[in-house]
Amino acid sequence: MAAGDYMAVRDAIKKIIPQSSYDDGSAGPVLVRLAWHASGTYDKKSGTGGSNGSTMRYKLEASDEANNGLEYARNLLDLVRQQFPWISYADLWTLAGVVAIEYMGGPKIGWKPGRVDDVDEQYVPPNGRLPDATQGEDHIRSVFYRMGFNDQEIVALSGAHNLGRCHADRSGFEGPWVPMPTRFSNTYFKLLLRSRWHKRKNSVGVEQYNDEDNELMMLPTDMALVKDPKFRAWVERYADDKDLFYRDFAAAFGKLLELGVIRGPEDKALRQYARAKL
Ligand code: HEM
Repeated sequence: MAAGDYMAVRDAIKKIIPQSSYDDGSAGPVLVRLAWHASGTYDKKSGTGGSNGSTMRYKLEASDEANNGLEYARNLLDLVRQQFPWISYADLWTLAGVVAIEYMGGPKIGWKPGRVDDVDEQYVPPNGRLPDATQGEDHIRSVFYRMGFNDQEIVALSGAHNLGRCHADRSGFEGPWVPMPTRFSNTYFKLLLRSRWHKRKNSVGVEQYNDEDNELMMLPTDMALVKDPKFRAWVERYADDKDLFYRDFAAAFGKLLELGVIRGPEDKALRQYARAKL
C-alpha cells in the first residue's frame, strides 16, 4: 500500500470497528476515548503533552489509571499499523477517533497527518493530567482551561459521552449514558436535562448517578454540567439543536487532536524546547 494513502487507512480502521463479542458490538467508543486521552494531556503554558509523540506507548502514561482499558484500542490499532507501517502511531490513534465518530453517525472532523512518534520515554507527560470523574466544575475548568478550551467547548466535547459505557474494572463506574451507545447524537444532553438522576453506590461501591431503572448513568462530572449555570446554558442549547452540537463538536474535537502538534521545519526544535520544560 502506498505511503500516505490515508483513505486506505480509514477503510482498514472501519473494518475493525464492528466487534461482535465486545461491549455493544463496537470498538468505536473506545477508539474515540483513545484519541481523546492521547491528546488531553496537553498543557498550553509549557507546550507539553498532546497527541504528538504518541507517548501512551510508554508504560508511565499507559499505566495512568485514567487510561485503564485503552490497551484494547491500542492493540486493535496495532493490527491496522501492521498493514500500514509508514503511519505514525500518533496519526493513527487520532485518525481512528475521527473515523469512529463518522462511522457512528457523527460529524465529519477535520484531521491532518504529520504527527511523529520520535519522543523519548523521559518526555512522557506526568500522570494526572486527565480529568477525574469524581470531581466538579472547578476541576473540569482547570483541566480543560489548561488545554486552552472555553466553557462552550468543554460542554460540546462532553457530548462524546453519548458514546460507549463505563466499566467497573476500568474506572470503577458502570453503565452507558444513553440507550443507543454506538450512535452519535445529542441524546446525552437531553437525558441530562430530562431524567431524574439519583445518587447511588454501584456494584463495586462507587458513587454515580443512575436513572430510575438503573439502566443509564451519569458521572459526577456529567452532573456538574447541569449544576453550573454557564455550562448548563450550553447543555440546553445542544439538547435543542443537534446541528449546532454537531458543528461545535466537530470544531472542538478537531482542535483537541491538534493540541501541541507543530508541523514544518521548526517542528523538531520547538518540540525539544517544549519538552525541556517538562
Ligand atoms: C468514557 C470520564 C470527557 C469520551 C469515560 C469513562 C470515564 C470518563 C470515567 C469510563 C471509562 C471506562 O470505565 O471504561 C470523563 C471525564 C471527562 C470526560 C471526567 C471530563 C470531565 C470526555 C471527552 C471525550 C470523552 C472530552 C471525547 C471527546 C469518552 C468515551 C467514553 C468515555 C467515548 C466511552 C469509552 C468506552 O465505551 O470504552 N469517560 N470523560 N470523554 N469517555 Fe469520557
